[in-house]
This record gives sequence, C-alpha cells and structure tokens, in this order.
Amino acid sequence: MKGLILVNAYTQSEHELNQPRRIMAELAGLGVPCDLRRNNFVPAWVAGDIRSDAARGYDFCVYLDKDRYVPRLLERTGMRLFNRAQAVEACDDKMLTHIALAGIAPMPATIPAPLCYTAGAPLSEGFLGRVEDILGYPVVVKECYGSLGMGVYLAHDRAQLREIAARLQGKPHLFQKFIAESAGRDLRVIVIGGRAVGAMRRTSQGDFRSNAELGGRGEAAAPDPAVTAICERAASALGLDYCGVDLLLSADGPLVCEVNSNAFFGTFERVTDINVARAYAEHIVSTMQGV
Ligand SMILES: Nc1ncnc2c1ncn2[C@@H]1O[C@H](COP(=O)(O)OP(=O)(O)O)[C@@H](O)[C@H]1O
Ligand SMILES: [Mg+2]
Repeated sequence: MKGLILVNAYTQSEHELNQPRRIMAELAGLGVPCDLRRNNFVPAWVAGDIRSDAARGYDFCVYLDKDRYVPRLLERTGMRLFNRAQAVEACDDKMLTHIALAGIAPMPATIPAPLCYTAGAPLSEGFLGRVEDILGYPVVVKECYGSLGMGVYLAHDRAQLREIAARLQGKPHLFQKFIAESAGRDLRVIVIGGRAVGAMRRTSQGDFRSNAELGGRGEAAAPDPAVTAICERAASALGLDYCGVDLLLSADGPLVCEVNSNAFFGTFERVTDINVARAYAEHIVSTMQGV
C-alpha cells in the first residue's frame, strides 16, 4: 500500500510542512510509505475522460489542501481521499457547514448574507433590520471562507453592521448570534474516524476570538459526554475522517461554531499529550485495510 500526501501548491514554510511530515512518519511507522507533494504537478485533469497519470500507483491520498477540483477528479478515478472532497468543501464554507448540520448539532442562529453582483449597491435597510431583530447586538459577522479568526468581526449597532456588510459585499459572508458567555473562550475537539480523541480549551485575553493565531492560549480539557456526542455527530454528518470542531460554551450548553477539516494539531498535541498524527495514521490504515 502506498499513499500520497498532498499539500497546497504554494506551501513554503517549514511550519506548514510539519503536520504532513508528522502524518507521513506515523504512516511509515505502520509500514505504509507515502510521498509528500505540493499540489502543483497536475495530479489530474480532464481530457474527454479524467487523466491522472502522475497520481497512478497511489492507493489513497491524505488531502491537506482545500483546493476543490483536484480532489473531485482524484475521487472520480476511484482513489480514497482522507478527507473526502465533499467533506472538505462543506467545512471550507462556514455557511454550508451550518446548513449541513442544521437539525443535527446545536449551533448559534445564523443568517446568510445575500450574494451581490453589482459592486457598490448597499444591502437593504430592511435586511439589516431583520438581522438586528433576529440576532440582536452585538452581532457577529463572518466571512464564509475565513480562518485563523481573521474573517470574524463584531458589530455593535446598525452603523457598524452596515459598514462591515458593505466591506464584505464581494465575499460570501454570514451574520451570527454573538454568544456573550463564550467571548474569549472556546473548546477545540479533534475527531478521528468518528471518535473524539481529546479536547483543548482556548482562552484569549482582550479579544472575543480565541484563535491561537490571535493569542488564544490552549490547555487540555476533558470533554464531557454531551460535547463528545455533538462533535462525533457533526463529524459523521459531514463525512469527515479527521476534523477539529470549535465549540462555543453558551449558557444553554455547547454550540458548534465551526468545523475545520484541515485543523492544525501542533498546539493540540503539545498541550494534551495526545498523538493526533498516530491516531489519524491508524484510522487511515484500518480504513484502507477494510477493518
Ligand atoms: N457567534 C459567536 N459568539 C461568540 N464568539 C464567537 C462566535 N463566533 C466565533 N467566535 C469566536 O471567534 C473565533 C473564530 O471564529 P470561527 O468561526 O472559529 O472562525 P475561524 O475559522 O476564523 O477560526 C471562535 O473560535 C470564537 O472564539
Ligand atoms: Mg475557528
């Protein structure tokens, strides 16, 4: 058995190569060699049928990119991807994640912003008024494709809401109820092969976003059964082999904030002492062996 580990075509930093190298080493330890490659060698294309000469000889692919086309092409050739193409797409777009999990996992109330084709046309005051009525203030505004906390904003009144909505007009975005009790803290749970392997509490001083990249500090946490059940349900509904679920801690219980198909596990491994790369490698090998 041989695997292909694909990372983004433009990956440069050693830091970003850390995670694929860890997974590769654990797979090698289980007797499964892999090639680690950037997604920049034309792994597959369409010429009448699908051509994938450069990807031939691999039994599976650990897909650590978010590009949407190559994984769909590779799956059409019969290759098994970890995670699957559709699961990566559903997680990459926060609004699609919320739609997929509606009725399956508790989440904060969320409203999609309408798509704008005509630059400069303002969003109607009627729409902003509905957002205000349903979600109240302050209200969270998020870019659907944001990550590391960088596309997440807070509006305190109609003027700020109007201003942020105008700024994001050209990008898919959403409006979401602000969970005040959870400001500056959340819970990151990693789920592999349908099982929650551990949890990390993240706390930030002075910012409502608790992302590690914005200064949030992580510490090991014991996920209670309610949290575990929500995360496992969410991962399974999205068809994920591996993910990091971010939960907000509301007065009414945990709420799914977002699901990361490509969650970094460096900080998580350090603070929890859980070998995430090995757990993922074991899941991949047992899946491929049909166990
Ligand atoms: N509705 C919300 N209420 C309170 N805090 C939130 C809410 N949504 C996000 N946050 C905070 O902002 C952080 C980043 O939001 P998230 O949706 O996870 O985006 P990203 O993909 O950028 O990490 C979360 O980890 C959480 O701390
Ligand atoms: Mg997040």
